[in-house]
Amino acid sequence: MPHKPLTPGRRTFLLSLAALSGMGAFAIADKFRYANRYLGATDALEKDFSVVGNASLRDRAAAKGLIYGAAFPHVALSSDRAFAAAFAQECAILVPESILKWKALRPEPNRFDFAAGDLMAKFARNHGLLFRGHTLVWHEALPQWFQESVNSQNVRRILLEHIKTVVGHYAGKIHSWDVVNEAVLPKDGRPDGLRNTPWLQLLGPDYIEIAFRAAAEADPQALLVYNDHWLDYDTNEGNTRRTAVLKLLERLKAKGTPIHALGIQAHLLRDKPYFNPAKLRSFLRDVASLDLKILITEMDVTDKKLPVDVTLRDHLVAAAYEDYLSVVLEEPAVIAVLTWGLSDRYTWLSQDEPRSDKAPVRPLPLDAQFRRKLAWNAIARAFDQAPMR
Ligand code: G3I
Repeated sequence: MPHKPLTPGRRTFLLSLAALSGMGAFAIADKFRYANRYLGATDALEKDFSVVGNASLRDRAAAKGLIYGAAFPHVALSSDRAFAAAFAQECAILVPESILKWKALRPEPNRFDFAAGDLMAKFARNHGLLFRGHTLVWHEALPQWFQESVNSQNVRRILLEHIKTVVGHYAGKIHSWDVVNEAVLPKDGRPDGLRNTPWLQLLGPDYIEIAFRAAAEADPQALLVYNDHWLDYDTNEGNTRRTAVLKLLERLKAKGTPIHALGIQAHLLRDKPYFNPAKLRSFLRDVASLDLKILITEMDVTDKKLPVDVTLRDHLVAAAYEDYLSVVLEEPAVIAVLTWGLSDRYTWLSQDEPRSDKAPVRPLPLDAQFRRKLAWNAIARAFDQAPMR
């Protein structure tokens, strides 16, 4: 990615920014270097990210025929009314962050615990939110008994029982299911690019088609999604992942598998300027050409390697959102955008991708007090500028 030279305008802006933050000459130079290095495709520091009006992300998305929503952390449902209110205001769809995964739903081999999921479904219903399920088949968040008692003789029965029971329980109440999550990993070395998961080892590569067919039988109304990550950037890994995912989707469609959409998680980075709009746009077009819809399912921006300065960091995070969405929303097959959380108060990145300086991470549209940030502006602007669906 060519680095744009610091223009006089940008230099002035940075100087004033640096002066405001009371920095010495060396620190100013360091900020220039850092800012210029990480501006990537968009000059984040000079963008004003201004929006017109006060409409919510939900309403701005809906005005273009899009759905905006977020992952909802179970811990906040009964303990944080302010978060729940902000969520209901900004979102049109809710996906439980973890409580519909095997580990939460299946405490024992013969017991399903739908209590938390039903509370979330009720909250969604009471606030007019769509409800999406995540996820029916994944190699993570499996209960201890899975490793201990599932084998090649009983795996098909256990998988089919799980999908029939869980999808059947929410049948008619679900917008979409992430039926299979993160099944592709080219570096595992298989010709088909599939990840060497317990599901693959026990049931073979057909487990993916088996899961989609079972989900379609249990809820013919639900949109059935294949969900995956690290598909966003022009890196060797991103390029090989996109190729493998496309080939998987082509195989599934060729067999008549009831798959309706690709979920792109979109856990974005700003500290590595590998964003290639043309490559991403081409991938989206290829997916859409398979008669598949596209959902952006878990969007956030990891800021662990960005400057600690909140003004600069918020600009860079906002630029990452705006750069990405401005490309993605050009594709008419994209029907929904969800962030993986709504507020910095509840983000997996605090625990999984913490900053070495221990500063609180700031990846999401609302800050920890549910105030709108530049990231919120960037997403709002992207919806405002998106073509009508
Ligand atoms: O609910 C239990 C709680 O009872 C217990 O006291 C506590 C002890 O640590 O664990 C709690 O469960 C945690 C769960 O989140 C609910 O908070 C699990 O330990 C923890 O591993 C789990 O992490 C989630 C992770 O998926 C694994 O399921 C993250 O919050 C969630 O953000 C993350 O989301 C994934 C998507 O599903 C798939 N794409 C990547 C994304 C980020 O990793």
